[in-house]
Amino acid sequence: MEDYDKAIGVMDSGVGGLTVLKELHRLCPNENYIYFGDTKNLPYGEKSKDELVEIVKEIFDFFEKKKVKAVVLACNTTSATAYEELKDKYSFQIYPLIQIVSECVAKDKAIKRIAVMATQATINSHKYLTELKKSNAGIQVYEQSCPLWVPIVENQIKNYDENIAIKGYLDNVLQFNPQKIILGCTHYPYLLDKIAKYAGKDLFINPAKIFASYIKEDLCKKNLQARSTEGSITYFASSDPEKFKNNAKMFMSINAQPSLAVV
Ligand code: DGL
Repeated sequence: MEDYDKAIGVMDSGVGGLTVLKELHRLCPNENYIYFGDTKNLPYGEKSKDELVEIVKEIFDFFEKKKVKAVVLACNTTSATAYEELKDKYSFQIYPLIQIVSECVAKDKAIKRIAVMATQATINSHKYLTELKKSNAGIQVYEQSCPLWVPIVENQIKNYDENIAIKGYLDNVLQFNPQKIILGCTHYPYLLDKIAKYAGKDLFINPAKIFASYIKEDLCKKNLQARSTEGSITYFASSDPEKFKNNAKMFMSINAQPSLAVV
């Protein structure tokens, strides 16, 4: 099989990475995607770097067995903590979210003050800060962790106090007066309607679009884009595929039964 005919692996802790998969599928509908939702290990944001490296290694091994041509780390937390450790250990192309998105965002030199809302592990790593400054040394970055947001999305919690769970985090960020706010966790765009009640929607960057455009261009550059006219999406969850499917319906029309992946 030619490399360009192989599938693209996409991974995250649960349904968050579907925000990226949706954009990728819109731009490259003829690719074959294998989505891995690591429901067994979420939330990643509370885990240590060592734990996350082990987890991602197992998922990369799973993708290696599937003989994929590329893996999309549709997850900020593991881009921040596990990518550097594992990037040279696999033969497939790996796309890390934070590194790619930061470089694209920092090209806009008019942005001098930017905030990042992300998981605790991503904020602890200061990866956005480091990566944004690589391309724009003078940029000021405010970092805010939002530990309640992933559990709200994954457990479809409806009856929470928005004053604490949404406005509480945003108040800190808005005091910094950012020109843009990066939604630095792929689960967060699910909450955008709620978040945007307290700040204009235009203020927020959902990295999925920027990330997916970069990947499309890069696959073409490397001559790895699929040649077939039809693509597919196969879903795997590491526990409770039924719950994963129900959650995923919020965002993608899942018409396949996700399998339980043993990694
Ligand atoms: N959605 C992932 C991210 O972009 C991980 C969230 C989590 O499991 O804590 O960081």
